[in-house]
Amino acid sequence: MRTHEAGALHADVTEPPSSVLRPPADLAALAPSVWPRTAVRRPDGVLEVGGVDVRELGAEFGTPAYVCDEADFRSRCRDFAAAFAGADVHYATKAFCCLAALSWVADEGLGLDVCSGGELAAALRVGFPADRIAMHGNNKSVAELERALDAGIGRVVVDSFTEIARLAWLAERRRIRQPVLVRATVGVEAHTHEFIATAHEDQKFGFSLASGAAFEAARRVVEHPSLELAGVHSHIGSQIFDTSGFEVSARRAVQLLARVSAELGVSPEFLDLGGGFGVAYTAADDPIDVPALARSLRAIVERESAVAGLAVPRLAVEPGRAIAAPATVTLYEVNTVKDVEVTAGLVRRYVSVDGGMSDNIRTALYDAVYTCTLASRCSGAEPALSRVVGKHCESGDIVVRDTWLPADVLPGDLLAVATTGAYCRSMASNYNLVPRPPVVAVRDGTARVVVRRETEEDLLRLDVAW
Ligand code: LLP
Repeated sequence: MRTHEAGALHADVTEPPSSVLRPPADLAALAPSVWPRTAVRRPDGVLEVGGVDVRELGAEFGTPAYVCDEADFRSRCRDFAAAFAGADVHYATKAFCCLAALSWVADEGLGLDVCSGGELAAALRVGFPADRIAMHGNNKSVAELERALDAGIGRVVVDSFTEIARLAWLAERRRIRQPVLVRATVGVEAHTHEFIATAHEDQKFGFSLASGAAFEAARRVVEHPSLELAGVHSHIGSQIFDTSGFEVSARRAVQLLARVSAELGVSPEFLDLGGGFGVAYTAADDPIDVPALARSLRAIVERESAVAGLAVPRLAVEPGRAIAAPATVTLYEVNTVKDVEVTAGLVRRYVSVDGGMSDNIRTALYDAVYTCTLASRCSGAEPALSRVVGKHCESGDIVVRDTWLPADVLPGDLLAVATTGAYCRSMASNYNLVPRPPVVAVRDGTARVVVRRETEEDLLRLDVAW
């Protein structure tokens, strides 16, 4: 059974979507919902991102490479800021973290959600304003909490009774009053196009709302003079297309705030609904419209607050994927092409590229579906049902399980895989001692390496004896 952070319904999706069984009308078409905003196919068939020809990128920086459209990334930060004006938008660093991207987030005026000492260190390295940082995690170490407090971060999202006591003591020793949010498990399992209420209590994050643990956590925070109850936090999952899950979580979190206000006599400022807004990995996906989502969340929070006689809390959201994913494509070079007869009369074309599960584990881990295209030339060849695979010693090393590529794809061609900006670089590994690809930022016709390619030296630098 494969699992997904967002819930079991994301798992065990082994059949290709039915649309994949039919070749698209135009193999060269670039669905605007899937590709970076500056991506265009030139008349000679070559893909251009950020005004740069991908063949030039391949020649200069090598393959595989993550090509990040800076204008796209920044524009999605601005989209969220505009739709949620008056609310706090914290970019979820875990989706994609590098110093350049964090500086773009800072420039665009967003806040940041970090969930480890490493992510906090990266934020502090770029001089990210500490008061705009929130720190998450079900198991923050004492050292991580100390660093966060010493940096003066805006909010700590507390996740256990142990942590409340620990944080209170650390804050007291520093003679500070640390704002905290209580992470509540609201009992919503979110899923594309559906949600199952009360189905997701059994997990490591947060305090259960239904059992009263979330209220008890709020009570304990209020009891500590060194902690300030700044609000309630809920995160229901990831890659969510249906707003109804957010609406239920908003309603339940407002009810918790109302109880806190009535019984504990404090009025926490924030209601943080987390991240999880879905993106289009294929043209068939229908992601949430950010302005509509913002309108719907505001309306429900206002309505529920009015019912509860509560001042409307300030909203906060934490988009990661919706900002980072669409901005980046991974550029690969084709190395081998092999036809395999799967059953009598059914041939599957295996197109092997020079990366794989070390630069994108999502296909192997979640059966994630991706869109890919021949990026370095045009082709008039017939479509061939293909599987794009990597170079790792594992048969599950699949980048794109089912895709249509021109039948004349050859070694030396470049393929681009779309929507790889979130949870690909950040979950990359050195499996088989394969160096991780660089991140090349493209903008207005120029390209610059913002994260360099790993070298063999890098791979061996931690070994101290043999
Ligand atoms: N806030 C909290 C508290 C989170 O745990 C997460 C993601 C986010 C915000 C951002 O969620 P986003 O907007 O990016 O969906 N590795 C998985 C995704 C794990 C998400 C973990 N938490 C994947 O590749 O699909």
